[in-house]
Amino acid sequence: MSSVNAMAPDSLSIQDQRTGKNYTVPVEGDHIRAAQLEQIVKTEGAPGLVSYDPGLINTAICKSTITYIDGEKGILRYRGYPIEELAEKKSYLEVAYLLIHGELPSPSDLAEWQHNITFHTLIHENLKVFMSGFRYDAHPMGILVGTLGALSTFYPDAKNVKDTASRRLQIYRLIAKIPTIAAFAYRHSQGWAYIDPSNDLSYAENFLSITFRPSISSRYEVHPELARALDVLFVLHADHEQNCSTSAMRAVGSSLADPFSCAAAAAAALYGPLHGGANEAVVRMLEEIGSVDKIPAIIQEVKAGKRRLMGFGHRVYRNYDPRAKIIKRMADKVFEITGMNPLLHVALELERIALSDEYFISRHLYPNVDFYSGIIYQSMGFPTDMFPVLFAIPRMSGWLAQWQEGVTDPEQRIVRPKQVYLGPGERHLP
Ligand code: ACO
Repeated sequence: MSSVNAMAPDSLSIQDQRTGKNYTVPVEGDHIRAAQLEQIVKTEGAPGLVSYDPGLINTAICKSTITYIDGEKGILRYRGYPIEELAEKKSYLEVAYLLIHGELPSPSDLAEWQHNITFHTLIHENLKVFMSGFRYDAHPMGILVGTLGALSTFYPDAKNVKDTASRRLQIYRLIAKIPTIAAFAYRHSQGWAYIDPSNDLSYAENFLSITFRPSISSRYEVHPELARALDVLFVLHADHEQNCSTSAMRAVGSSLADPFSCAAAAAAALYGPLHGGANEAVVRMLEEIGSVDKIPAIIQEVKAGKRRLMGFGHRVYRNYDPRAKIIKRMADKVFEITGMNPLLHVALELERIALSDEYFISRHLYPNVDFYSGIIYQSMGFPTDMFPVLFAIPRMSGWLAQWQEGVTDPEQRIVRPKQVYLGPGERHLP
């Protein structure tokens, strides 16, 4: 591959000033293969050059056809379709199908897909016993992580990750069962008996029903507008290309672990306050601020580096997160039904002040998806610690689409990054 002073079209010429040697590295599309850097050595036999990239900020770990983001322009598309169109015209289950299969379902595909997802919503009675073993005050996200991992022991057939039919079955199971597990995690914290899913309801309606219906004998009418709002939130959260949790899903999947174990790892990654835990952190922050007169002091603390404004900033978006725009509009519809959430005033004023402040402008810090979603979840009646769980439910379809793409990609190998070793050289015990 290397050649001295060779010029080829679509190539990168590298001159190593340490040795005076020239290298030509092929450029494929808009990337080079990092392994090409290995040939660049300081002395014969020395280790090759590596790219040091903590946080993988400029390293593509896969080729993907699923989700496209242009962070500068604030664009998000699933399989080519703009998120705005999908959120307006498609249901979450249609979008999940699109992510997994690459195309939107025909009416008969959709009917079969909905039937299969509905058919798999029940969980094994032993899994209920497993869940009831968590402490009464266990964080529902901890319950979700543990229970997803436990599911792998119920489905040993899921180990056949190279088998198309087996993969399809696990995909049905995971998309179908995650709302059931999420609802049970909530019911556990309330001390309520678990209620089996209602197969005559839509995906979002069923989830709301089995979460909030106090008992099997009590009536609970799901408000159709709230179910639709939740469904839109599910569409917006379904995938976001190579974020922390999706990378965890792919990394664990690269060892050919079963998808339940991979999903537990992805959910664990989502748990952190810098990722899926941010919506929880936003509401806690807004509650702590309490009133608009306290905002200037908070902004000062942020600018002094003492704290971060939760729900602001994004690794990829250097513009307004397109999902945050849709959610902000949707908040008004939800509050018409639930009544105004007083935290909205604080959030709107915080956004207004931050977006006119040089600190935020120069760093391209805009509201992200989490800034308004938490306030909506709270108005729907969800406790704060359920917010990351509400993120995990729809993200399951994205995780699975990415996992499937990874395990079927002939170029993928087990993830095994390199390091820059800075420890002691060889030394010996006395
Ligand atoms: N509040 C204040 N300052 C911030 C914020 C913030 N929320 N985010 C970034 N900055 C500042 C940093 O201090 C840094 O400033 P400096 O250059 O003076 O040191 C600069 O902006 C760049 O920040 P990084 O940490 O390098 O940005 P990175 O891309 O690594 O982080 C992240 C992205 C983690 C999302 C960050 O913006 C953050 O912590 N936001 C708050 C948490 C949050 O809302 N997370 C949800 C993300 S969306 C999702 O996961 C669904």
